[in-house]
Amino acid sequence: MIPSILPTYNRAPFSFVSGSGSWLTSDDGRRFLDLGAGIAVNSLGHAHPKLVAALTAQAGQLWHTSNLYHIPAQHKLADQLVDLTFADTVFFTNSGTESCELAVKMARKYFYDKGQPERVEIIAFEGAFHGRSSAGIAAAGAEKLTKGFGPLLPGFVQLPFADHDALHAAVNEKTAAILIEPIQGEGGIRPVPDHCLKGLRDFCDSHGILLIFDEVQCGVGRTGKLFAHEWAGIDPDIMMVAKGLGGGFPIGAVLANEEAASGMGAGTHGSTYGGNPLGCAVASAVLDEVAAPEFLAEVSRKAGALRQGLEGLVAQYPDVFEGVTGAGLMLGLKCKASNMDVVTAGYDCEVLTVPAAENVVRVLPALTISNAEIAQALERLETAAQTVQSAQ
Ligand SMILES: Cc1ncc(COP(=O)(O)O)c(C=O)c1O
Repeated sequence: MIPSILPTYNRAPFSFVSGSGSWLTSDDGRRFLDLGAGIAVNSLGHAHPKLVAALTAQAGQLWHTSNLYHIPAQHKLADQLVDLTFADTVFFTNSGTESCELAVKMARKYFYDKGQPERVEIIAFEGAFHGRSSAGIAAAGAEKLTKGFGPLLPGFVQLPFADHDALHAAVNEKTAAILIEPIQGEGGIRPVPDHCLKGLRDFCDSHGILLIFDEVQCGVGRTGKLFAHEWAGIDPDIMMVAKGLGGGFPIGAVLANEEAASGMGAGTHGSTYGGNPLGCAVASAVLDEVAAPEFLAEVSRKAGALRQGLEGLVAQYPDVFEGVTGAGLMLGLKCKASNMDVVTAGYDCEVLTVPAAENVVRVLPALTISNAEIAQALERLETAAQTVQSAQ
């Protein structure tokens, strides 16, 4: 008999009843050190007092009015994002994949309005993940996402990761945009080198096409800059955001410069819940914390310590691990053993990590993880590695 929850997930055999900072308490009373942060969502950990205060204050005042009216919390959050980034304008969504939907629509509408309606094609990359909507799966293109869900939304091509010749060959008079994650998350924590991001910016400029960054997983402070592309010193035209922006409250956003957004007038897009007062109040509080230069500097410092510790584990357990990938607090342990075995062994010593493609274990802690918690994380991961090694 089908379960009451549509069985689209293989879930771990426990659930959590409460959380605080980097810790989660399970229904059987165990305390887990959370190095997954709800897949890069709980940017400030669990039950951060400032987020709880922002949510409860807004909850006692007003939950929802719809986008038929001005929403002060939405204006505040949009102004924050515009002040902090390349963007001139923002549309709020409820998730990463909804941000993908709008990013694609915006790029196509831009060229339609410029009298180039044939420019509809979006170039994306193998190993990418842009969510589970029809546009998201068509953009990523992998069979594991698309099989059985055809006909797929047309107008997407996928190129091998980091293949410059393929990129030159793929662009033509139908191309509208390049869509890329500065660091692939689900694809196995695969960073695009800064010089490649710069190269893509130049390439888009010289071909008159738009550059879309998907920072749903790598954005909002995770790499030690507010957005990962800032390390490369270039800007996209359109950027997808979600996950860490709400710190656990569902909210996403599409950020764009004025030119790229020029096709999106009244009636061209909408969302009942997008930019709802509750989500915006929480996201504003997240940005107040995360965008502070001293907070971002701490992320980089802690990331250095965590990475060094993980490199040590790789050296100590060469039969289990192969190397460390990623940037900032978006790290991946490339495994020789099965990554799922490492994740599962972690459950037994109360440490949570997240599997990804390419046999990688993702380490995506709350950005507020402390030095002591990093030390505990490394100890627990070592115990997990011992378990996996002795089972080999
Ligand atoms: C890079 C990237 N884009 C888009 C998405 C989709 O986000 P959501 O699950 O909120 O729809 C994800 C989710 O993992 C992601 O990692």
